Amino acid sequence: MKSYVVGNWKLNFTVGEASIYLHKLMRKIPNYRDLEVIVAPSTIALQPLSLQVDRHKIKLAAQNAFYRDYGAFTGETSFSQLRGIVDYAIIGHSERRYIFGERDKDIQKKVAGAIRNRITPILCIGETESERAFGETRDVIRDQLIGGLSEVSDDEIEKVIIAYEPVWAISSTKMKKLAMPEEVAEVTGLIKEILKEIYGGKVVEKVPILFGGSVNASNVGAYLTVPGVNGVLVGGASLILGEFNDIIEIAKRVRK
Ligand code: 13P
Repeated sequence: MKSYVVGNWKLNFTVGEASIYLHKLMRKIPNYRDLEVIVAPSTIALQPLSLQVDRHKIKLAAQNAFYRDYGAFTGETSFSQLRGIVDYAIIGHSERRYIFGERDKDIQKKVAGAIRNRITPILCIGETESERAFGETRDVIRDQLIGGLSEVSDDEIEKVIIAYEPVWAISSTKMKKLAMPEEVAEVTGLIKEILKEIYGGKVVEKVPILFGGSVNASNVGAYLTVPGVNGVLVGGASLILGEFNDIIEIAKRVRK
């Protein structure tokens, strides 16, 4: 299976800044065949960057999109509009869930909308600090995974990427703690168990699982060696070109 390094730029960079970053990153990295490097700029930058990007080296991801293809939905951008512009879309990020009120029933339609438009969904799941403290992690992961995938058929599941991002480990969270590799391993194991229950054993080796939460150049090696982790979803550290490049190089070296 390929490895993945995804940079989620969140609400950062003007279109011009994003373009300069992309230009510099393309100059730094070669064409890695078994490592997929993906950046997720703001929606407004996607179209111009799609004309600039060398897709052999870097792929673009949307940070979000709406599940209906067209209609009276003021302010939204659809997966059908993003078709051909991005290869991936981050869906159900915890910031979408907790700041913008997205629920599993929205997220499952978004996952389906992405697949329908030939965009690979990166479905984000993860428990909050209080859910973990109350021993609810397993239930939350199960609910978010089953909820998010409920419109995905047996034939489509191989087109999905799962990202485990414990909300308490995200760098912008006030009381942020670093996730221990054993804690990550426990949840990736659980994700595989659930995927196996729904789609059968063969699928488990085909669905990549990414980890996200304060990943940087110093800890990426440890997270990538966790059993069941195929890549990382990086927020803050992806905004620093040199550090993101280091993360990519480490990922290339520790590839399983
Ligand atoms: P940080 O790497 O800044 O913790 O962000 C993680 C994240 O939310 C990526 O989607």
